[in-house]
Amino acid sequence: MRPPPAHRATTAHLQAIYPFATSGGIGGAGPLLGRDVLGGPFSFDPWELYRTGRITNPNLVVLGQLGRGKSTFVKILVWRQLAFGRRAWIMDPKGEYGPLARACGTEPLALVPGGSVRLNPVDGIGRAAPGGGTGGARRATDLVSTLVATSLRRLLAPEERAAIDLAVHHLAQDGPTPTPTLPDLVDVLLLPSPESAATVGTDVAGLARAGRDVALELRRMVRGDLAGMFDGVTSGRIDDGDAAVVVIDLSAVFGSPALPLIMTCAAAWLQGALAAADGVKRLVVIDEAWAILNDPAIARWCQANFKLSRSLGIANVVVAHRVSDLSAAGADGSAEEKLATGLLADSETRVVFGQPPSEARATARELALSGAEADLIPRLPRGVALWRVGSQSHLVEHVLGRSEAVLVDTDAAMRDNPRQFPGSGADFCGTEG
Ligand SMILES: Nc1ncnc2c1ncn2[C@@H]1O[C@H](COP(=O)(O)OP(=O)(O)O)[C@@H](O)[C@H]1O
Ligand SMILES: [Mg+2]
Repeated sequence: MRPPPAHRATTAHLQAIYPFATSGGIGGAGPLLGRDVLGGPFSFDPWELYRTGRITNPNLVVLGQLGRGKSTFVKILVWRQLAFGRRAWIMDPKGEYGPLARACGTEPLALVPGGSVRLNPVDGIGRAAPGGGTGGARRATDLVSTLVATSLRRLLAPEERAAIDLAVHHLAQDGPTPTPTLPDLVDVLLLPSPESAATVGTDVAGLARAGRDVALELRRMVRGDLAGMFDGVTSGRIDDGDAAVVVIDLSAVFGSPALPLIMTCAAAWLQGALAAADGVKRLVVIDEAWAILNDPAIARWCQANFKLSRSLGIANVVVAHRVSDLSAAGADGSAEEKLATGLLADSETRVVFGQPPSEARATARELALSGAEADLIPRLPRGVALWRVGSQSHLVEHVLGRSEAVLVDTDAAMRDNPRQFPGSGADFCGTEG
């Protein structure tokens, strides 16, 4: 049978035949996420969009009111990306990613003071940077300085920074074990080596005095109220670079005033792990990020991570309620506010779920949405989001596969052997990009 003759017309005329016009999606690569409401399937792969020049960074910001489907979307994105060989690392403040982790064959790692999971934030002290050098030591010095400054709520004095730097380098070169830990660092700060003291023209007592506040503050994470999370070598199963999904369950410490320290340690460990780059592309998710971005140290870390995303092959996914969550880190115009709004600038994919009218207006302003799009946001039903990818908008209905409901089920009613879900999500994995 001969195909019907082609019909040519301008887009100005063709728009008259809406609703049969489709939006053309955003490239068709990656897993299928649902339906573009204007017609056609909607697939999304941040790395593919970056590779083809559609976006200039792979990071996502997800916004929306409680219960609108933000976490559900993230879980489904992660689950379906796994079929493409991608992996994920998830900070889970509400403890709701367990079913996803178990479906991937791992248990979430619950950070609980005195619990069984340890993250060694100075894991990388002895690790060389790619191409040589002491990259691990430099990162450890930065991390410890950030931790102590956050904890002491003041900037460190030059002699304190020097004491940290000398202790870290001593551990890297002559430490008691190949994998130094925070307790080792505290010991060296309290009793430095004569060689370290000599390099800064002082004696052991002088260097010990310079590092004493630092050591006592760090000791809190080793012996005090935060003991039992960061005071040993990293628990073996976390370090498993082959795990498809690593979920850090922070629900036990979510309300704690020490959350920024805990997040910073967890994040630093992650950075160290990611720096040992294995070429695998990863989603790094911070759910409920609104609760932590008001800490300048976290905001700073997040932004560094956003900036590093391209070189590490990671796509960051930050989940918040409203745009002001990303700029609430400081008073107007403060350095912190600039840091946090930088997150919005460094993410080129924004997924907006339903919001009340006042928040929708702010979102529309920050994301340069049209008036019609702004009016739409308060009326979006659960599971439907306005996607802004670069300068393009898409209205997307996220569709759950039959077998995926258990992954988003928050009552944790999981089966005994979750790996054997019928379909295992493959029923909704889209076309290879
Ligand atoms: N696309 C969807 N399809 C079907 N149900 C959904 C969808 N998105 C969310 N839900 C349901 O809504 C509930 C709340 O969604 P959730 O993602 O936890 O909201 P949020 O993270 O925005 O607070 C989930 O437990 C899930 O059952
Ligand atoms: Mg949620």
